[in-house]
Amino acid sequence: MTEHRTVPELMEENDVVDLLIRQHALIRDMFDEVEKASGAERGEAFQRLVRMLAVHETAEEEIVHPYARRKLEGGDAVVDDRLAEEHEAKKLLMEMDKAGPEDSRFMTNLAVLRASVLAHARSEERYEFTQLRARTSQTERRAMAAGLKAAEAMAPTHPHPGVESATKNLLIGTPVAMMDRVRDAIRNAMGKDG
Ligand SMILES: [Fe+2]
Ligand SMILES: [Fe+2]
Repeated sequence: MTEHRTVPELMEENDVVDLLIRQHALIRDMFDEVEKASGAERGEAFQRLVRMLAVHETAEEEIVHPYARRKLEGGDAVVDDRLAEEHEAKKLLMEMDKAGPEDSRFMTNLAVLRASVLAHARSEERYEFTQLRARTSQTERRAMAAGLKAAEAMAPTHPHPGVESATKNLLIGTPVAMMDRVRDAIRNAMGKDG
């Protein structure tokens, strides 16, 4: 895969719905990679997945869900259901991160996490993104895509050579610590109070 297909901030999609659907496909591929890997590679593949999920879910929470609340019919209910799903997945992600890839339950937990994250992604596509596409203009969706990419560029999942020093590494520590830092960075960039 070439870089623009696998690095969230470099994806070519200009419509936020296309962009998020592309990221969901990438997340599915990253689960495959963790499942196929063994030994130290499994831990590395899992860390890549954790970083991707931290950035993707936080960017959705800060940029896409608030917009959906305002624009969708029954937007609050749609978004509250999605946040509850994200919360469930995050709890398991925290447990797995703490136990580590050597834990005897790792593969069982990974299967549960995969089912939960992918069911959540399907629900977003079906209940949130379809309406988002119908109820927003192309200009709004392009602006959201630009905001999402800018947010994801602040926390690069694959730091580029020579850029590491310019971008603070937000993606270290536990999944919740990563998400908190990405959230702060997005809010600062958008001029909101933490
Ligand atoms: Fe999500
Ligand atoms: Fe998503």
